[in-house]
Amino acid sequence: MKSVRAFAPATVANVCCGFDILGFAVDHPGDEVKLTLRDDNLVQVVSIEGDEGRLPREAEKNTASVAVISFLKAIGSSQGVDIELKKKLPLGSGMGSSAASGVAALVAMNQLLGNPFTRAQLVPHAMEAERIACGSAHADNVAPSLLGGFALVREYQPLDIIKVDATETLFCSLVHPHLELKTEDSRKVLRHSISLRDTITQSGNIAGLMLGLTKPDYALIGRSLKDVIAEPIRAAFIPGFETMRKVALEAGALGFGISGSGPTVFALSETRSKAQTTASAVQVEFEKRQLKADVFVSKVNQRGAYIID
Ligand code: HSE
Repeated sequence: MKSVRAFAPATVANVCCGFDILGFAVDHPGDEVKLTLRDDNLVQVVSIEGDEGRLPREAEKNTASVAVISFLKAIGSSQGVDIELKKKLPLGSGMGSSAASGVAALVAMNQLLGNPFTRAQLVPHAMEAERIACGSAHADNVAPSLLGGFALVREYQPLDIIKVDATETLFCSLVHPHLELKTEDSRKVLRHSISLRDTITQSGNIAGLMLGLTKPDYALIGRSLKDVIAEPIRAAFIPGFETMRKVALEAGALGFGISGSGPTVFALSETRSKAQTTASAVQVEFEKRQLKADVFVSKVNQRGAYIID
């Protein structure tokens, strides 16, 4: 039977000042999905590796199958498919784990059926995967995982996603402590209204970040990587967060913040060596607090998810 394998990268959502509206993709790590067409109409998750048995196998609950079901419904198809998932991203890490599985499955399904959708048209189906994973259909992980680079969600209704024409010379440090934080939980703690003062600060920073990325102006990127909405609340879940920011900036990073809903933290740097030094300095801070942490350093990824074979 016809099979396709696809890879979808991890993503950093929010990028400090773009809560729910901005994200970027990294080269690695990411999830891998293999889809095999069936000769009936069943959509089945037949195997998952790397999740220690923790992800749901039921088609209506797993992010990969939910995305595929939404896709098939949109084109009015009753095609069945077997889904094999290789989970390389840690669960509850803030690195876009649920998004990557849904995105890889969609890219593979699209290829199998002759690409009826553009990458941008796949976004709403990937958002269904997010809805099932955490109760909120945000697009700031799925859009960059599908499109690569920085993706801006200018509007949700109707959906308007813009790939930012950002500098390609930017390196990301991701430091993932061995802690787990469910997106659902770290969304529940957020305030539902924001003061005028914080709205002004956040708007200035997101506008500054967009300009800094496109010019490019690295000092402006650095000054704009600030969050007054989610980070002040979520930082409490990450031991040593403020010290880590200090050591990251001392190591030469442009800015530092929480990756998505955490607990992974990220930094952006102008060179790979600064990104590496930053990642090591932050890792040491986690270790000082008896937390093992994995480090991933990569260029901001430009191509997003891709077909392996
Ligand atoms: N924007 C989302 C949040 C991303 O911060 O809750 C979740 O990865």
